[in-house]
Amino acid sequence: MKQKQRLDKVLSNFGFGSRNYIKGAVKKGLVTVDGRIIKDSGIHVDPEVSIIEIDGERLNYRKYIYIMLNKPQGVISATSDRKQKTVFDILPEEYKCFDLFPAGRLDIDTEGLVLMTNDGQLSHEILSPKKHVPKQYYAKVMGRVNQEDAEAFSRGVTLDDGYQTLPAVLEILKSDDLSEIKLTIVEGKFHQVKRMFEAVGKKVIYLKRLSMGNLRLDESLQLGECKELGESDIELLKQAIIIDN
Ligand code: URA
Repeated sequence: MKQKQRLDKVLSNFGFGSRNYIKGAVKKGLVTVDGRIIKDSGIHVDPEVSIIEIDGERLNYRKYIYIMLNKPQGVISATSDRKQKTVFDILPEEYKCFDLFPAGRLDIDTEGLVLMTNDGQLSHEILSPKKHVPKQYYAKVMGRVNQEDAEAFSRGVTLDDGYQTLPAVLEILKSDDLSEIKLTIVEGKFHQVKRMFEAVGKKVIYLKRLSMGNLRLDESLQLGECKELGESDIELLKQAIIIDN
């Protein structure tokens, strides 16, 4: 695997400024690699091994970045859009230099856990229908959600396009004219939760994703806030992929 990369590219990818700015900084002798002042911004370095500093600030190199976002309503799960605000647009500036994309989509009016990453392999595995990674949602539903619905979901229901869903676990938190539930599904069809309730004659009026695999939304994140995840968090996601392999 390619480990060595151009120094100016590494620094600009990590948000230290444009390649031209970095060239200037190198000329001024502000950039060091393993303690040695570098005079050529085009040298190849291995950022996983070398200590790179610019003006005394150490580059915190990560091959992949994983961001947990508490997605608010009104934002789409895309990286760019001419009309709508995207999950990428609402990330803090420090993360905009990475090629992050959402690993899985939520509807514009759905809130909650979105994983943003540049790790294509992990994203592929989480989303692969073969891996059956569980995703748990909280929803407010018009109408009395009851045990019959739970049984129907556990058998699988037929969606409006004829698709038969895999068994899902419905937990009824409140059964009233406006019910509250948690639903765990292991697939990710378009509008799946909303369409599953439609299949039993009910309407979801509020939806929030709580978890993916064993990775739970950090409830201390306000809507629109995010945090960078560490290796142990990613392990929680991977566990679900391996178990269901
Ligand atoms: N199911 C839905 O209906 N919408 C979402 O955003 C996610 C799951």
